[in-house]
Amino acid sequence: MPDSLTIKDNRTGQTYELPMLYGTYPHYGAAIPAAELRRIRASDDDFGLMSYDPAFMNTASCKSAITHIDGDRGILRYRGYTIEELAEKSGFLEVAYLLLHGELPTPAQLQEWQHQITHHTMIHEATKKFMDGFHHNAHPMGILVSTVAALSTFYPESRHITDAEVRWKQIHRLIAKVPTIAAFAYRHSIGMPYAYPDNDLSYTGNFLNMLFKMTELKHKPDPVLERALDVLFILHADHEQNCSANAMRSVGSSHADPYVCVAAATAALWGPLHGGANEQVLRMLWEIRSKDRVPEYIQRVKAGEFRLMGFGHRVYKNYDPRAKILKEMATQVLHVTGKSPVLDLAMELERIALEDEYFVSRRLYPNVDFYSGIIYQAMGFPVDMFPVLFAIPRTAGWLAQWQEMLEDEDQRIARPRQVYTGADERRYVAIEKRK
Ligand code: SDX
Repeated sequence: MPDSLTIKDNRTGQTYELPMLYGTYPHYGAAIPAAELRRIRASDDDFGLMSYDPAFMNTASCKSAITHIDGDRGILRYRGYTIEELAEKSGFLEVAYLLLHGELPTPAQLQEWQHQITHHTMIHEATKKFMDGFHHNAHPMGILVSTVAALSTFYPESRHITDAEVRWKQIHRLIAKVPTIAAFAYRHSIGMPYAYPDNDLSYTGNFLNMLFKMTELKHKPDPVLERALDVLFILHADHEQNCSANAMRSVGSSHADPYVCVAAATAALWGPLHGGANEQVLRMLWEIRSKDRVPEYIQRVKAGEFRLMGFGHRVYKNYDPRAKILKEMATQVLHVTGKSPVLDLAMELERIALEDEYFVSRRLYPNVDFYSGIIYQAMGFPVDMFPVLFAIPRTAGWLAQWQEMLEDEDQRIARPRQVYTGADERRYVAIEKRK
C-alpha cells in the first residue's frame, strides 16, 4: 500500500501494515486509525497496542470540515474562508450561518436566519427568578454556565437530538438567548433592571442595548462599537478542537441535550488557560502597571513563577492571526473610546517578550486573548465579563462542532482508554490489621 505505515514489533519480529487517513488535501495532515494498533500484540491474550497521548497533544479526535488552523503559518479559515477576509467583509450572524451550514448564505437564507435568531432572543420570565438568586458579586461566567444549563429544563424536547428539526430550533434558541443571559448577568451584577431585547437592532447592537440601555426609550448603540463587537465575535466564533469544543463534543456524544453541552463547553472555556485568559491578561497588565516594570515581570515569568497570560498556544507556533487583527483594531477602538495606558503597556510587553530567547525558543506569541481584553475594557466592559464575551460567539462554533459530531458515522460515545499504573490485585485488609 503506497500510503501506509509498516511497523515492526521488535518483541515478536512481526511487521504490520497500517493504512493512512488523509484530510481533504494532503497538506492538511495524515493520521493512522488508532484502532489498527490493537492488531499489534505480544501474545494471543495481549490487549494490543494503544497510543498514549495525554491532553491529546497529537491525537485527531474527529474528522472535521468546519475550521482549519495552520499553526506554523498562522492560518485560520472557517469553511475555507480566511479569518482576515471574514473579519473585513462579513458579519457575525453570517459567519455563524457559514460555520453551521457550511456555505455562505444567499440573501434570502441570511434574512431567514436573522429572523429566526432575532425572534428567539427573549428568555422565559422564570429564568429571571433563577438569576436573581445569585449573589450580587457572582462571576457572570458562573451565572452563564448555570442559566444556560437551566434552559434545558424549559425545552425538554431538546433531548430528541437525532431529530434535525429539533436540533435547528435549539441552535436558533441558543445563539439568540446566550447574549440575553449574558446581558442580564451583567445587569444583575451592577444592580440594574434587565433591559429587554430590541428586535429592530442587529445582533451586536441588541446586545449593547441589553447591556447599556438606561432610561432612554430606545437605545442607540454606537455604530463603531457595534461593528467592533461584530468583528470580535467573528474572530472568536470557532477554533477547531480546542478544549471547550472538545468538552462540547464529549458531552454531546452521550446524547445529552445541547443546552447542557453548551453549559459544559462554557465551563471549560472559563479556565484561565483557555478563554478565561482574556480576563487574566488585564489583571496582569494592571499588576505590571508601568513599562519600566516589564523587564522584572518577564524575569519572573522566565523563572516559572507564573505564565505570561495571552501568550502561547497549543497550535499556533507563529503569531495568532486573530491577535494581529485585534492589535490593529485596538488602536481604532481607542480612537473612539479614548487612549488606554494598558495598550501601550501590552505593546511594550509584546516587544520585549518577542526579543527574548525564552519566548522565541518556545515559539510563544500573543494569542487571541492578549489584545481582546484591552478592547473590551475600552468599550466599557468590566473584566469579569471578558470570558462571557468569548462564550457568546463561540456558542455558534460549539453548536457547529456538536452537529458535525452527531452526523459523523465514525463517532460514538467518547470513552478514552488508559494505561493503568495502579496496584495489581490484592486482598482486603481488616482495619485492625492495617499499620
Ligand atoms: C485560547 O486551543 C485553542 O484553540 C484555544 C483558543 C481558542 O480560540 O479556542 O485559541 C483560545 O485558549 C488561547 C490561549 C489562552 N491561554 C493563555 O493565554 C494562558 C497562557 N498560555 C498558556 O498557559 C499556554 O501557552 C497554553 C495553555 C495556551 C498552551 O499550553 P501548551 O500547548 O500545553 O504548552 P505547554 O504548557 O506545554 O508550554 C510549553 C512550554 C513550557 O515551558 P517548558 O516546560 O518547555 O520549559 O512553553 C511554556 C511552558 O512553561 N509556556 C509559557 C507560556 N505558555 C507556554 N511560559 C510562559 N508564559 C506562557 N504563556
